[in-house]
Amino acid sequence: MTQLVRSRAELAAARVRSSGVAGVVMTMGALHDGHRELIRVARDRCELTIVTVFLNPLQFGAGEDLSRYPKTLESDLALCTAENVDIVFAPTVSEVYPESEPQVRVSAGPLGDVLEGASRPGHFDGVLTVVAKLLHLTGAGVAYFGQKDAQQLLLIRRMVKDLDFPCEVVAVPTVRDPDGLALSSRNGYLSAEDRTVALALSRALRAGAAAAPEGPAAVRRVTADVLRDQSGVDVDYLVLADPVNLHDVPEDFAGAALLAVAARVGTTRLIDNLVVTLGGR
Ligand code: PAF
Repeated sequence: MTQLVRSRAELAAARVRSSGVAGVVMTMGALHDGHRELIRVARDRCELTIVTVFLNPLQFGAGEDLSRYPKTLESDLALCTAENVDIVFAPTVSEVYPESEPQVRVSAGPLGDVLEGASRPGHFDGVLTVVAKLLHLTGAGVAYFGQKDAQQLLLIRRMVKDLDFPCEVVAVPTVRDPDGLALSSRNGYLSAEDRTVALALSRALRAGAAAAPEGPAAVRRVTADVLRDQSGVDVDYLVLADPVNLHDVPEDFAGAALLAVAARVGTTRLIDNLVVTLGGR
């Protein structure tokens, strides 16, 4: 049976009663099939599955969508119950940050200043700070994150490695609607028309990936062309980058590269990516 816990004390008590390796899926709520997939992978591999539902104010900048972010705890709980999650930890802001905003935070460093970080200053410091706290509070041995948030995943891996967290980080492939749209809690902001426009992101990434045999310049050109041809897509960045350091890959790069895009469609900022294998030339 899924147990809902709201406080650190309740979480600690629930953890004392449980044994075995715990897997955690961290979320901000508004759960969808992408989260369901993370939960299923965790469920298959761990003795205990914990889902955290916490809308973390620290990772939102002024003017971002914190106030309009969907809050759907009841249906989130129903999904967790259907997926046999053991514990749902859904704390309040003051439970996570009892002293108000924490004075000491995890710094994402230079990798946190590019791409998403360039558009959302301080975002990744906020993400890493809450992920560090939730790893400590849940005592999870394995944490599952989606590949859709590729830069977040990279930074969490770096934090766990650089700061010796006793935890494994597992990446789970992006879940898409049948028409290609990457699932995101923010898709709910899209009007029917915006949603059609938003399909250009995955279409562009697929077209770019198909140009991989012609090399990085072709991948970038083809991807950009598809995005340019779709009116209503306001591209923030489009990169073909080394997934280890996020530097643009040179023309002779061989191996897996991250083709990533961020764009605004209507009032909604969307991100998506594909891993593209380049042959080197
Ligand atoms: O990916 C998210 O939903 C959030 O950034 C996370 C990892 C739950 C931290 O708030």
